[in-house]
Amino acid sequence: MGQTQSKKKTAAGAGREKRWRCLVCGFVMTGEKPPKGCPKCGSSSREFLPDKKYTPLSYDGEKCDVLLINGSTHRSNNTGYMVDLAEDELRAKGISYRRFNLNEYRIDHCWCCYSMKAEYCTYPCRNSEDDMPAFHQMIAASRAVIVASPINWNTMSARLKDFLDRTTCMQNLFHLVKPGLTEGKIVGILVNGHEDGAMKTAMDIYLHFQQMGFVMAPFGIAFRTHGPEFNSSMDAEFFKNDELVISYTKGVVNNVIELMKLDIEGKLKGKLVPVSE
Ligand SMILES: Cc1cc2nc3c(=O)[nH]c(=O)nc-3n(C[C@H](O)[C@H](O)[C@H](O)COP(=O)(O)O)c2cc1C
Repeated sequence: MGQTQSKKKTAAGAGREKRWRCLVCGFVMTGEKPPKGCPKCGSSSREFLPDKKYTPLSYDGEKCDVLLINGSTHRSNNTGYMVDLAEDELRAKGISYRRFNLNEYRIDHCWCCYSMKAEYCTYPCRNSEDDMPAFHQMIAASRAVIVASPINWNTMSARLKDFLDRTTCMQNLFHLVKPGLTEGKIVGILVNGHEDGAMKTAMDIYLHFQQMGFVMAPFGIAFRTHGPEFNSSMDAEFFKNDELVISYTKGVVNNVIELMKLDIEGKLKGKLVPVSE
């Protein structure tokens, strides 16, 4: 009897089992729930999502005010926490937004067609096989972008760098005959790290946006680092209990919204002289 019951339980349990993929390293495990952590890369269970066949992201055409980009290797660690705070503030202020954690998406490195010949870097991008074309459309359709990154070697994450490199086709529009799509849009920047390099990281990110005609929100950078005297395993606990992470992040979101209310995008459209290399 006991044996039959346990067999039944196993059979029923097996029906509920799923394949879970770690979005950081690609490790796949089977089970009813996501594993407690990734045995391969040490990421938390929050990095696991049900494994599914890849289909490129498509844009449904719905406009939103703010595109919120989590550029971290992790969807739900320290950078993800800052993005959660930003989301709370956007929701509290009734602003329409869409959040994307880049580790959930396929974004190839830039093919750098521009380096062969300026005219080869076209919009839409020649690489239409990954998720980036949908992001291009969403950047064009939103009024502001709030972008978050960890500091990696004194600059942004490689994932975010690939994402921003792929905006070259939008930036290059200004050099081609077509009008640009991004002048006068607003950017806010969120950065966190263990010890140092936050402002350089924020400036590196800003330079990409600046060359697409974006305007930085006043007090538009929130950054917070823990300290070299601490072990990085203590960072998450520090950020979660740090009042400045909360007030700075919410402050940037507020400042992006206040600038957005002035509709500088509408006022500047067609009046700017694109100056970029
Ligand atoms: C490859 C790599 C390079 C890093 N470089 C820096 C750095 O230059 N300065 C710094 O303060 N933290 C550095 N860090 C620490 C991360 O910025 C920190 O752990 C951050 O909170 C990670 O964000 P996440 O939790 O969203 O992944 C580095 C981490 C890694 C993995």
